[in-house]
Amino acid sequence: MTLDISAIRQQFSSLNDASYVYLDSAATTQKPQCVIDRLSHYYQHQNANVHRGSHHLTAEATQAFEQARSLVASFIGAASEQEIIWTRGATESLNLIAQSWGRANLAADDEILVSETEHHANIVPWQLVAEQTGAKVVKIPMTAQGEFGWEAYTELLNTRTKLVAVAHMTNVTGARLPLEAIIPLAHQTGALVVVDGAQGIVHEPVNMVEMDADFYVFSGHKLYAPTGIGVLYGKKQLLDAMPPWQGGGKMVEKVSFEQTTFTGLPGKFEAGTPNIAGAITLAEAIRWYQSVTVEDRERHLHQLQQLAYQGLSQYEDVRVIGYQPNASILSFVVEGVHHQDVATLLDQQGIIVRAGHHCAHPCMDAFGIQGTVRLSFGMYNTIEDVKKFITALDKSLSFF
Ligand code: ALA
Repeated sequence: MTLDISAIRQQFSSLNDASYVYLDSAATTQKPQCVIDRLSHYYQHQNANVHRGSHHLTAEATQAFEQARSLVASFIGAASEQEIIWTRGATESLNLIAQSWGRANLAADDEILVSETEHHANIVPWQLVAEQTGAKVVKIPMTAQGEFGWEAYTELLNTRTKLVAVAHMTNVTGARLPLEAIIPLAHQTGALVVVDGAQGIVHEPVNMVEMDADFYVFSGHKLYAPTGIGVLYGKKQLLDAMPPWQGGGKMVEKVSFEQTTFTGLPGKFEAGTPNIAGAITLAEAIRWYQSVTVEDRERHLHQLQQLAYQGLSQYEDVRVIGYQPNASILSFVVEGVHHQDVATLLDQQGIIVRAGHHCAHPCMDAFGIQGTVRLSFGMYNTIEDVKKFITALDKSLSFF
């Protein structure tokens, strides 16, 4: 059966009768009705704190909250739900690893290898912890095409390397990093690997046991769930050995002014009232996302990206940056025109794209540009959306 995109699109009330075409799903996705309904249902009928008190409402909320954790664990193929820590998003997850694992395990002259393709969220937390511990952040230069610099990586890895930080897929070009080669090589030299899955989780099924990453992080809001909820996956033995990051309620076993003891996983890393509604609706978003097969999802997104690429290829002044076939992202520049001007003209015609450095300054510097115009597709986009984009671009280019 062919995928019925109009039926999918109808589930997105923000897009029904919208006067705009939304091509910025790598920044955040629109939300299907079932996710919005689940959020309202929680607040209307189940609102209570979790893991506190003994009334029936807290029991119900706790059950839904913990079921969401189990669903995430099975969605990413984690060995145990104790390996799933709720956070505000991928950025917070990375900061948690840096401040908990990093501060406890890094020492002067240790090296953290970070790919040049990374989002700032997978660079800056390592710089902060490097400053605190005396460790060094070492760049793995990317290739001219914006792909992972494999040769540089093999040369840079050494016995001082304690951590390798890479994305699953980059947010600038959609390039997939060769995790199946990066991770075992790091492990051979005794380094851990942290993978920023913010973009990758939306496009590729993952299995933590098979991938063997030591840490994998992602945000709910790029996966059709609300903002403010994210996941840190970590191997249990690593999380067990890590000190708490933030202190507060729920992460403790017993508090006294003489000595405080901490609870086990996952509560140890979840101080304070968590984003209960976020966790429950992330589970709903994952169920929705899994209602379409991986093959259908990828075929659809790649078809849109291909069509946009063909459309862009007719313009001499348009240069696609780090083109990746079979991605759902397409970044481009118009020679001699600022990316923001292109995006503004598109916006005025109802085409929503992202323009800028995409929180990836080093990647932009390596490409020798200041920014790009970026298209990124979601399941609700149609061929018609791409055609409207090309028509609007055509009109925009005639201004310059
Ligand atoms: N990291 C998000 C993006 O690429 C916000 O747009």
